[in-house]
Amino acid sequence: MSKKFLVPRGTNDILPLEIPLWQHVEAKARDILKNYNYKEIRTPFFEETELFVRSMGQTSDVVQKQMLNLGSDLSLRPENTASVVRAYIQHSLDRKENLSKLFYIGPMFRGERPQKGRLRQFHQMGGEAIGPGTCSPYLDAEVIALSVNMLKSFGLNNFQLKINTLGSPEDKENFSGMLRKMFKSPLEGLCEDCQKRYERNVFRILDCKNKDCRAIVNAQKIDHSYLSDESHAYYAKVKEALESLGIAYEESLNLVRGLDYYTHTVFEISDASLGSQDALGAGGRYNDLVPQLGGPQVDAIGFALGVERILLAMPQDKEFVGQTPTVFVIALDETAFAEAFSLVNTLRQEGVPSDINYKVSSVKSQMRSANKSGARYVALLGEDELKNNVVTVKDMETGNQEQLELTKLIGKVK
Ligand code: HAM
Repeated sequence: MSKKFLVPRGTNDILPLEIPLWQHVEAKARDILKNYNYKEIRTPFFEETELFVRSMGQTSDVVQKQMLNLGSDLSLRPENTASVVRAYIQHSLDRKENLSKLFYIGPMFRGERPQKGRLRQFHQMGGEAIGPGTCSPYLDAEVIALSVNMLKSFGLNNFQLKINTLGSPEDKENFSGMLRKMFKSPLEGLCEDCQKRYERNVFRILDCKNKDCRAIVNAQKIDHSYLSDESHAYYAKVKEALESLGIAYEESLNLVRGLDYYTHTVFEISDASLGSQDALGAGGRYNDLVPQLGGPQVDAIGFALGVERILLAMPQDKEFVGQTPTVFVIALDETAFAEAFSLVNTLRQEGVPSDINYKVSSVKSQMRSANKSGARYVALLGEDELKNNVVTVKDMETGNQEQLELTKLIGKVK
């Protein structure tokens, strides 16, 4: 027996019946992104590995454990912020507009251990706002509000928004120092990974899922004393702006995000009903990434939502109808087939979605195919119809049947 191939673990086929739901979510997202003046950008699915290492950080979990390397110095994109920044720099977008608001919808790839809501190929819908002098707390609040409003537009209501600030790069250094002091004495109790993280990147201890590490982290009293007055004031304005937009949030001083490029505002949106992989989306400011990757000194902030997790959390109260042809053409005998074939072609030229049964079998079995196709009308052609230059048309919704001339048929179904 020959081998049966299955979809690779951690990836999904999205079948025709599921497509209407995906298209609904994508269309909603596009509408909202357009309202906020985001423009679509499409970058390649792979980039130089070093781009991801330099942006997300050598010590981030994604770079350490989840990169899907293509063999040479290329890797599949685990996220899209780095690629968008690369494109922004490469095409000097800073010279074209003051603030580039760019969005993307597409697959991302991470070599993770698959489980519910955690895939090796998944899809993100995200946006990046990049431009000189655009470090404004109002923009931060707007990006967060945009993420929240997108989720609401999909019918999601039971999610929780958490925000925090890492402050300026200097504040972040202070924060790192503060954490090192904090974890110095309980260091032995941390997992092996976290003991390494203590040396290399102490922030990552705060994201560790290990039970003992979680207990140690939760016992610490993290405060905002690492922030400068300026960063404090900035963050206060972000919160004020969120309140003015009516966006409910919770502050989480443990929230540092798993990627290294963040500065100042960070946020995460989660839905407890999803279980352990509960993050619907996340984002934050990354003012230093563009210059770090060789670009101009411009500020930036962005977000990304996980499409599969959105679909898991979405209420299942709406039925989405799959794609159906308007007309299904049936030849009642072999002699009528050529004419029927020409009819379906004419219908298509006229912009009427149509299909035909390619095998002339019994009327009963052909009507079954027509039924399965979901077509509104069935057009039957046989000896009689050919003789009289008409088509028999059955309206599958009402059951009515009539004979029409070809031109009338087109007028009717259009
Ligand atoms: P992230 O938190 O790594 O951030 O991913 C964002 C969202 O993508 C997650 O909240 C989750 O919904 C989804 N996601 C991530 N990994 C998986 C997976 N293995 N399976 C299914 N869904 C997943 C970023 O990617 C940043 N680029 C966000 C950002 C944009 N920050 C600034 N700009």
